[in-house]
Amino acid sequence: MNSSDSDLQIAGDLLEVQHLLRPAREHPVTVAEFVGLARTIAADRDLWAPLVQYDATSRWYHRLRKGPGYEVWLLSWVPGQGSGLHDHGPSSGVLTVLDGELTERTDRGKRTLGAGAQRVFAPGYLHDVVNDSLEPAVSLHVYYPGLTDMPMHTAQCAPAVATA
Ligand SMILES: [Fe+2]
Repeated sequence: MNSSDSDLQIAGDLLEVQHLLRPAREHPVTVAEFVGLARTIAADRDLWAPLVQYDATSRWYHRLRKGPGYEVWLLSWVPGQGSGLHDHGPSSGVLTVLDGELTERTDRGKRTLGAGAQRVFAPGYLHDVVNDSLEPAVSLHVYYPGLTDMPMHTAQCAPAVATA
C-alpha cells in the first residue's frame, strides 16, 4: 500500500500539536524504556568514562543512578575477572557492554558481547559473565527492582551461598 491508499493524512507540522503527544516520562517503566535509558547512558561517554576504575584484586562497581524502583550500576572487568554463575534474585535487568568485550555463559552456551551489545533478562536468569579478552571491559547494569540478592550457583546450577 502506498501513502495515497491511506485515508489517514497528517496536515501541517506534527510538532505543533504537542498537546496531542504523550509527554516523555521522567523515569523508565517499560522494558524498552530501560533499554533506552541504558543506551542513552552508554552514548554519554563523558558521563561514565571518568568514573571507571580498574581493580585487579576485586571487582569494581559504582552505583551511577537510582530511580523509583531501579538502580544503574557501572562495572569494570580486568582481563580474567568474572562474576561466577549467579542469578539476580527478584530483579530483572539490562546488561550493556560499554567498552571492551565480555563473554556470557549460560546453560544454552556462550556468547561474546562487544561494546554496544545488550542483554535483557528476567528474574531467575542464570549466567556467568567473564572478561575472556586481553583488554579491560566496562559494562552498565540496570536492575529493576534494585539488586538486593545475587545468589551464586555451582556449575551444575544448584544454589550455593550468596556472596553479593
Ligand atoms: Fe548478572
